[in-house]
Amino acid sequence: MVKITVLGAAGGIGQPLSLLLRLNSKVSELALFDIVNAQGVATDLSHIPSTQKITGYGPKSKTDITQLQAALKDADIVVIPAGIPRKPGMTRNDLFKINASIVKSLVHQAGLICPNAFICVISNPVNSTVPIAVEELKTLGVYNPSKVFGVTTLDNLRLEEFLSLSIKRATGKTVTPAELRGDVISIGGHSGSTIVPVLNSWARNLSSEVYDSLLHRVQYGGDEVVKAKQGRGSATLSMATAGYRFVSHLIEALTGDSVVDEVAYVKFDELPGQVPDIVADNVSYFSLPFKLGKTGVKLITFPHSLSDKETGLMAVAVNQLKDEIARGVNFVHPSK
Ligand code: NAD
Ligand code: LMR
Repeated sequence: MVKITVLGAAGGIGQPLSLLLRLNSKVSELALFDIVNAQGVATDLSHIPSTQKITGYGPKSKTDITQLQAALKDADIVVIPAGIPRKPGMTRNDLFKINASIVKSLVHQAGLICPNAFICVISNPVNSTVPIAVEELKTLGVYNPSKVFGVTTLDNLRLEEFLSLSIKRATGKTVTPAELRGDVISIGGHSGSTIVPVLNSWARNLSSEVYDSLLHRVQYGGDEVVKAKQGRGSATLSMATAGYRFVSHLIEALTGDSVVDEVAYVKFDELPGQVPDIVADNVSYFSLPFKLGKTGVKLITFPHSLSDKETGLMAVAVNQLKDEIARGVNFVHPSK
């Protein structure tokens, strides 16, 4: 049985994600923390029949950390969707100024209170907030490379859905997103050209025109939602679904004997397994496929062969990621 703490639980992602976690019978305790309204959300969810304990926590004053600490006590998994979302015209990097401090302070408390917990960072810009989380845990001496993840699952949901539509458009054949899952993956980072869809043999079904429009839609799917919501935030429901897919797999790996396949943005240089040279020679963070077990990442698995086009996309991705990773690291160690 598992205790999960959601930080930012009353937000656009936090609420539906908490709902999905409320419905998971393997979650024995759900702790919802937010600076506003977490108790309201927890009370609402507590009316859904379950054997799960659910509690909402919010700070009693601007400087109160006791409620955050109570929420984190004994957590096995900490999920962090806390922070501001984009408005039209903003990049994810524009969120750094505010979200970097939020992620740093929340991860600091997690490192103190539940140092063995898995940390799943959703707050943007993920390419930089994950390095912040890692460096913060390192300063506390509790960093475990197998247990810190940037949640990039939404890029995989988008690839599966949009590729299924593209194949239908190009060939008239129906290949469901579920059939594509695992065979195609989005790797790299979580923003624009740092996102690299790897299509395996499915690329053969697509003309270059269809491929280019698929690539653009996967890389800039976030912009599509931000624009459609007209200033009222970014992806929340699809993100909650994606976040739940990742966290429920983590729960399965933690509680069962099975090893689960997943993809997330990790600091891979201290993890076992093979990483393409173009990645390993340039960066230490990348979203990659791996096997998840009870203790976290067991093995990075990169069985996918890359086309020339995909290798070119990887080169662009690592170049941009270098700066974004450094920005996160420098935020925790300003003099480095
Ligand atoms: P939102 O504004 O609806 O919710 C964010 C919540 O965080 C709010 O309830 C707010 O009160 C809370 N919060 C702010 N500071 C906090 C703190 N210090 N401690 C606890 N809670 C705090 O935003 P949202 O739509 O839920 O998005 C949240 C974040 O997730 C954004 O940064 C967004 O860019 C990111 N996001 C990431 C992905 C991804 O694929 N990784 C996808 C979508 C959105
Ligand atoms: C997404 O990909 O939808 C999220 O990262 C939110 C955003 O700002 O685009």
